[in-house]
Amino acid sequence: MTIFFRARRFSAKVFRRTLRLFFGFDRWHTAPLCKRPYAQGIIAFCNRQPVRNSYIEIGCGLGDITRNVRYRRRHGCDIDRHVLNAARFVAYLQFQRNIIFRQFSFPETPVEYNNEHKFDCIVLVNWIHLIPPDVLKANIEKYFRENLTGNGMIIIDTVQDAEYRYNHDIKYLTSGLPCTIEKVGAYCRQREVWAISNQ
Ligand SMILES: C[S@@+](CC[C@H](N)C(=O)[O-])C[C@H]1O[C@@H](n2cnc3c(N)ncnc32)[C@H](O)[C@@H]1O
Repeated sequence: MTIFFRARRFSAKVFRRTLRLFFGFDRWHTAPLCKRPYAQGIIAFCNRQPVRNSYIEIGCGLGDITRNVRYRRRHGCDIDRHVLNAARFVAYLQFQRNIIFRQFSFPETPVEYNNEHKFDCIVLVNWIHLIPPDVLKANIEKYFRENLTGNGMIIIDTVQDAEYRYNHDIKYLTSGLPCTIEKVGAYCRQREVWAISNQ
């Protein structure tokens, strides 16, 4: 690893720890993006898509994925108002002032917002292991049928690790849906990222 890369990673950590002092969010968010290959994989995958108008991430945390995907309209949603305040601040510092960050409690909060009903990309990653399979399946199906554009996709992850509450099965989650499933990548803890699309 080059000295430059180490210095960059160190300064990213210091920045996040300082943010945490002010905003009081969970320690998890102090891990910089360069330490999370699955997030980098999702960003690269999204930015390769030919149609990139509208994007929403549910459970966006500090917005690392949301801030780095190139879509015309972006929504970053999270249940935790502390991390959302920090996400707004980071986006502001980076002159990314067009991202809508809003509080969202899955599965109760509707995806629709200000007459925007359909999205090219809906991302739910690295927290859905907290959601029971039947609830997750029902809501993936709802988003798929009601909130995806013709070219749209839902990106989720599954893990196979006893430390996580639920180890989801992509076949179960998508059974009965007229969809195509593409594996975006495979990572540690047997995390697999999937794109579910209607093409
Ligand atoms: C581990 S972080 C992952 C952040 C981001 N998805 C990433 O991978 O970089 C999980 C985030 O999901 C949020 N979250 C957990 N349960 C949620 C729920 N039911 N509705 C909305 N957000 C939720 C947490 O507040 C947290 O910010």
